[in-house]
Amino acid sequence: MGLTRVPGLLFGGDYNPEQWPEEVWDQDVRLMAEAGVNVVTVAVFSWSRLETAPGVFDFGWLDRILDLLHAHGIAVDLATATATPPPWLVRRHPGLPPVDAAGTRLEFGSRQGYCPSSPVFREGTRRLARAMAERYRDHPALVLWHVGNEYGDHTVECFCEESARDFRRWLQARYGTLDGLNAAWGTSCWGQHYTDWTQLAPPRKAPGPVNPAQVLDWRRFSSDALLACFEAEREVLKEVTPDIPVTTNFMSILHHLDYWKWAAAEDVVSDDAYPDPADPRAAVKAALSYDLMRSLKQQPWLLLESAPGAVSWRAVNVPKEPGVMRLHSLQALAHGSDGVMFFQWRQARYGPEKFHSAMLPHGGTDTRQWRETLALGADVRRLAGVAGSGTRAEVALLLDWESWWGLEAPESLPSDRLRLHALLLSWYAPLHARGIAVDLAPPGRDLSGYKVVIAPNLYLCTAEQAADLAAFPGRLVVGPFSGVVDAADQVHAGGPPGPLRELLGLRVEEFWPIPDGLTQDVLAQDVPAEGAPTPGAPGRGAPGLGGRTLTARTWSEWLELDDAHVLARYRGGPLDGRPAVTRRGAVTYLGCLLDDPSPVLDEVLDAAGVTGVTGAKPPAGVEACRRGDHLFLLNHGAAAATVPLPASGTDLLTGRHLHGSVVIAPRDAVVLKL
Ligand code: GLA
Repeated sequence: MGLTRVPGLLFGGDYNPEQWPEEVWDQDVRLMAEAGVNVVTVAVFSWSRLETAPGVFDFGWLDRILDLLHAHGIAVDLATATATPPPWLVRRHPGLPPVDAAGTRLEFGSRQGYCPSSPVFREGTRRLARAMAERYRDHPALVLWHVGNEYGDHTVECFCEESARDFRRWLQARYGTLDGLNAAWGTSCWGQHYTDWTQLAPPRKAPGPVNPAQVLDWRRFSSDALLACFEAEREVLKEVTPDIPVTTNFMSILHHLDYWKWAAAEDVVSDDAYPDPADPRAAVKAALSYDLMRSLKQQPWLLLESAPGAVSWRAVNVPKEPGVMRLHSLQALAHGSDGVMFFQWRQARYGPEKFHSAMLPHGGTDTRQWRETLALGADVRRLAGVAGSGTRAEVALLLDWESWWGLEAPESLPSDRLRLHALLLSWYAPLHARGIAVDLAPPGRDLSGYKVVIAPNLYLCTAEQAADLAAFPGRLVVGPFSGVVDAADQVHAGGPPGPLRELLGLRVEEFWPIPDGLTQDVLAQDVPAEGAPTPGAPGRGAPGLGGRTLTARTWSEWLELDDAHVLARYRGGPLDGRPAVTRRGAVTYLGCLLDDPSPVLDEVLDAAGVTGVTGAKPPAGVEACRRGDHLFLLNHGAAAATVPLPASGTDLLTGRHLHGSVVIAPRDAVVLKL
């Protein structure tokens, strides 16, 4: 069973028929059918066109377009149309738009102009969602509900009085008593002891740094407040149309929303992905976020929006060169998407996105863009058999949003240079280059199926999370500045790594951030033989690690070992001779940030017997992914690459039978059915 009842892979995009005269619709559906479009997302920003006054609905145009689409065999991902409250609602309720941290209420005239805690907004969205669901419950085109749009894009949080009340309720539910809150927030510091709930407020702009525990709870609350908006609509949809799956489009790896929690509340994970064609690391960044999408519900997901060419919201919007739209689309399929969809179908002639690319550009059908759209549609049909298949990963990267929020709290850390996305990438990139499948996992997920688990950073780590890690039977790698604080952002008694101390066999006595522009040499030692009896005893040595000089940047730590081997020591600098990378049993700890952790990683992977999906490292620039019995080989590089094949099979894109090896041109791909 696919994500929806549309067979095979989904192919299509956002369609905004209300921006076009109805004469254009006939041409739209004809061209959609020609391109093989089998689904479109409709009505995302249509509230003001559907509910024209309080309780006055005009569904006529939406009825006509849904019927027309259905008549042409095109299914609909129907938005509940609640992404932008209409002007009449905003003017009747001036408290509806969000307020920023400095107290300014934002004006109407863009989108997402709502306070997430506004009862007026939530009631309005439920009313519209119900009207939509009741009207279209039996419409044969409806295959997916699309709630809101990119929650957390423009409106992440709101600092108004309504939000303050909602925050207080949330805090009361979390802490029960003011004593509990005062203790958790450490309000004895800087004279913040609260004596009444009404004194509590969002972390608005203040004279100096705001209490980081308050900020952490605010992040939790703000993610939950938006999630409550989603859930309010979802509840209505499930009541009226229990069999139609519900999604909301995620924004790849987004700092503000705890997507583990969000994904649990939806039926299908969908993502909007906009890798920057001008970024040489675009492919690896996209791969990381796609693997997150696949991991969120441990099932296929849906690339719901992507750009056929240039976007319109970067400072400089570079188009995709010929072949790149196809390559990026195949990449999403390789990482578990059950479709390729775009923003948007027809390029707009007005509004802030009139220069954003589309499947059908301003220039019409005699364009490179349109020819590539047609060709991609044909490729997607050739790959229909990929739908529903999964990926088996032997390596997991841990990602915890609460820890991320703590790690990137403003103005209270030893260094503000530790950024979780960069830390994740620093481990993910070498795995990706080796063609190794990677899942992401939240703390608490069963890790027993993995051979290697990497925690790039666990700044916030509870005793329970540490116990889970201690129970993991495979090889564990833990990055620096981990086990520092508890769930209330309070430093663990005895200092870091807190509950990880026994597992790592060490203490972090001092943090030693490295000033910008400086580096620190780290000299790798021989790797001790497995189960070497005495800590510090010379080991058997592992080829490729001992004797190498590695480079640390940004972060180092003064470690004191209780019971761990030294894998690398600082050479020169303030920590000269002290341990930098350690191992206790199957657990490796890095007390520093290495420019390239590959030598350490490679040794762990080799010891664990983890190889890439092709059995060997693919040539530079070639990405290798396995989905079910499909092997995707994608050449992101600028030169042709010869890739040895682990088995023979048929390339579904060309129909060629391949064995031995295959030469892949730049920006070309092979999808081998093994
Ligand atoms: C996101 C939004 C769309 C559009 C595109 C532009 O995907 O959901 O409405 O703004 O970005 O890239």
